[in-house]
Amino acid sequence: MMYGPEKIESLLTSKWAGRTITFYEETDSTNIQAVKEAENGASHGTLLVADRQTAGRGRRGRGWESPAGTNIYFTLILKPDFAPDRASMLTLVMAHSVNRAIRQETGLACGIKWPNDIVVNGRKVCGILTEMKVVQGRICHVIIGAGINVGKQEFAAELSEKATCLDRECDGKVSRSSLLARIMKAFEEDYGTFVERGNLRGLLESYNQVLVNRNAGVRVLDPQGEYEGKALGITETGELLVETLTGEIVEVYAGEVSVRGIYGYI
Ligand code: BTN
Repeated sequence: MMYGPEKIESLLTSKWAGRTITFYEETDSTNIQAVKEAENGASHGTLLVADRQTAGRGRRGRGWESPAGTNIYFTLILKPDFAPDRASMLTLVMAHSVNRAIRQETGLACGIKWPNDIVVNGRKVCGILTEMKVVQGRICHVIIGAGINVGKQEFAAELSEKATCLDRECDGKVSRSSLLARIMKAFEEDYGTFVERGNLRGLLESYNQVLVNRNAGVRVLDPQGEYEGKALGITETGELLVETLTGEIVEVYAGEVSVRGIYGYI
C-alpha cells in the first residue's frame, strides 16, 4: 500500500493520537494548515501529514526543505486544558516520543540534542516546531510539527555536514507509515505521563539517558553573553542544567538561548 492515510491508519495502535488524519500530497506547511484546522474545530489528536511541503517552516524563522516521496512531515493538534506556561515542555515530550519510536523502528542509537533535535551519529534527522495560540490566559490549541529525514537524499551544501537521514544510517528502507504510527503511540503514552504531573518528572530519567549533550561541553549562545560549560541534564520543567567553568550551575531556557557543542553541532 502507498504512503497515505489508509496505510497509516491500518498501522495505528494509539487510542486518540492520529485517529483523525488529514493527508496532503502537497501543501504549503502542515503547521500552517494545522492552525486553520484547529481554529475550525479539529479535535485533540488530529494529525496532518504531507508527502511534500512547498513552504516548510523551521525554527528561528528558517525554512524546512520538504521534497516529495521521501520524508515525514507531520503536525499534531492538541487542545489541552493546562496553563499556557506548561506548553513549551510539549516539544520535549514529542522529542522524547520521536526518539523512542525511531529506536523501536530502526534499532538506531539515536539521541536528543536539547531541547528537541533528534540526532544519529552526530547529525540531525528530525526537527520539531511547536506553536500555540492563547486567548485570555487559556490555550486554544498547541500544534506540534515534526520533520524527519527518512529516505536517502542530497542535502543543501550548508546542511550536508549537519544533517543525515534514517535510510542512510541504518542501511535499509524505513517505512514512513510504520514510523508515524509508532510515534503516535509513543506520544500518546508520553503525553499521559506528562499530564499526570503537569511537568517532565515522569520522563526525566529517560530523556536524560538519551540526551547527547549530557556530560558534554556546550557553548551557551545567550544574547547577554556567550559562555561555555558542561551540560548535566534537564530539569522537571525542561531547562538545561549547565555547569559553568567556574563551577556554578545555571538553568538554560530554550526560548532564549541555543546551545552548541564546543567542537561542532553537538
Ligand atoms: C527545526 O527547525 O528544527 C524544526 C523543523 C520543523 C519542520 C516540520 S515539517 C512538518 C511541520 N510543518 C512545517 O512547516 N514545519 C514542521
